[in-house]
Amino acid sequence: MGARMLDGTAVGLAIRNELRPAVDAFTARAGRPPGLGIVLTGSDPGSELYVGSKLKSAAQSGLRADLTRLPATARLADVFAAVDALNASDVHDAILVQSPLPAALGGDAERQVVDRIAVDKDVDGFHPMNVGRLVQGRPTLAACTPSGVIELLDRYQIPMAGRHAVVIGRSDIVGKPMALLLLHRHATVTICHSRTVDLPAVCRQADILVAAIGRPVFVTPAFVKPGATVIDVGTSKVDDRELIASLFPVGSKRRLAFEKHGALTLGDVHPAVAEVAGAMTPVPGGVGPLTIAMLLRNTLTAAEHRLAARC
Ligand code: GUN
Repeated sequence: MGARMLDGTAVGLAIRNELRPAVDAFTARAGRPPGLGIVLTGSDPGSELYVGSKLKSAAQSGLRADLTRLPATARLADVFAAVDALNASDVHDAILVQSPLPAALGGDAERQVVDRIAVDKDVDGFHPMNVGRLVQGRPTLAACTPSGVIELLDRYQIPMAGRHAVVIGRSDIVGKPMALLLLHRHATVTICHSRTVDLPAVCRQADILVAAIGRPVFVTPAFVKPGATVIDVGTSKVDDRELIASLFPVGSKRRLAFEKHGALTLGDVHPAVAEVAGAMTPVPGGVGPLTIAMLLRNTLTAAEHRLAARC
């Protein structure tokens, strides 16, 4: 039997519809909508796409969203100046500096920039203060993608307490906060990474398997316990015709999309996992829309906290 597909598009839309009255109430109270400032440095095609969807969704939900664009040649001081301006802005409650920053800024640039964002406007929850709050289970702005995964599991009533959750990937953006959020929901959590010995065997213990490594179709049925819930956070643009041909038969919807665009976005999870898993997220249309819904929710939360702090 095929896995149940967890529809992130529908859940994301439901969350955004639920947010609307609260956004309108904030706007009426504050005399302005909640405001999100996004900083995009360079023109990485993936980032352009993500930022475009974030801006569009924010506007549709009644939020103010402004983009500060910096060239790929920007210096760290230019990124700092963009962040400083948003920190000082009265109409921006939330700040997001899109990752990745250009490699030329140096390996430590992302951390230096995150450290610069005002803690109460850190909509990604990446500032060390917000990460510390997350570790201790205190209320905080938590990273959007992992928060979206928890929301999806909740809405499909997939239990976490007492279950074994395995997270593949230990990034600051997804893997680590994902593991912490699952821990706070009383799952037994294992984090796997490139040095994990016998990765498929560890993953086969999972009731909930989260893949966040950015390696297309890496997670095969050999990684999956029958009936497990598999969450695919990966999005990789793939133009390898041979790989696509091996995954999707001629005439299938995805193969036709590849023929049309010359590339496909693939997740970390192999499509054949659908024959073993009990439930799984598609790519696209799984975790992505939830990330955006959580970004909007965090923006509203940040705005409400800032307003309350003034009263
Ligand atoms: N790049 C990919 N995902 C994210 C995210 O959640 N936040 C930011 N700031 N950059 C990203």
